[in-house]
Amino acid sequence: MPYETITDLIKEAIIFIFPAYCANAIPVLAGGGKPIDLNKKFPDGKPVFGSNKTIRGFIAGLAVGTVVGVLQNLLFNYNIFLGFMVSLGALIGDLIESFIKRRLNFEPGRMLPIADQLDFVFGALLFSTPIIIPKLEVVLVLILITPPIHIFTNFAAYLLKLKKTPW
Ligand code: CTP
Ligand code: MG
Repeated sequence: MPYETITDLIKEAIIFIFPAYCANAIPVLAGGGKPIDLNKKFPDGKPVFGSNKTIRGFIAGLAVGTVVGVLQNLLFNYNIFLGFMVSLGALIGDLIESFIKRRLNFEPGRMLPIADQLDFVFGALLFSTPIIIPKLEVVLVLILITPPIHIFTNFAAYLLKLKKTPW
């Protein structure tokens, strides 16, 4: 078995994705202001991304995710460029999900189960590939552990009144 224990595998997966988790969470705290789509409509007459995807949230998420990657570099020799790329991928994955939600007539903030919980993970995984190809077992662990972590942290943020919706 390539891993001593399942714990080592989970630890590897979490260290790999952690800058992206931070990039995804920070906009909840730091977002607001001008939306990325500048309130423009797509040719179908609906918003491109919608009012909840803001420039400030994107930049703050990318900055904090990248800094977390730098800290992980000091702690675990984590690749700094990987931290930047998984953060960027997480934010772009979430934007793509919002784009799809708007096409489906979902107003900003409305829940789309599974997609809401995994959009940023798929974005992060895709954007990591120019640097390293994530191992299949790491991908599987992330797909399994991210939805419960996401549900728990969002609910906690809602209880702390940091977020308007519990999802
Ligand atoms: N946010 C932001 N800028 C971003 C991404 C998120 O400001 N680029 C903030 C918004 O306040 C948003 C919150 O983070 O409401 C949570 O983001 P998310 O759950 O991904 O978006 P939703 O509010 O569900 O909007 P959507 O329907 O577009 O997914
Ligand atoms: Mg989303």
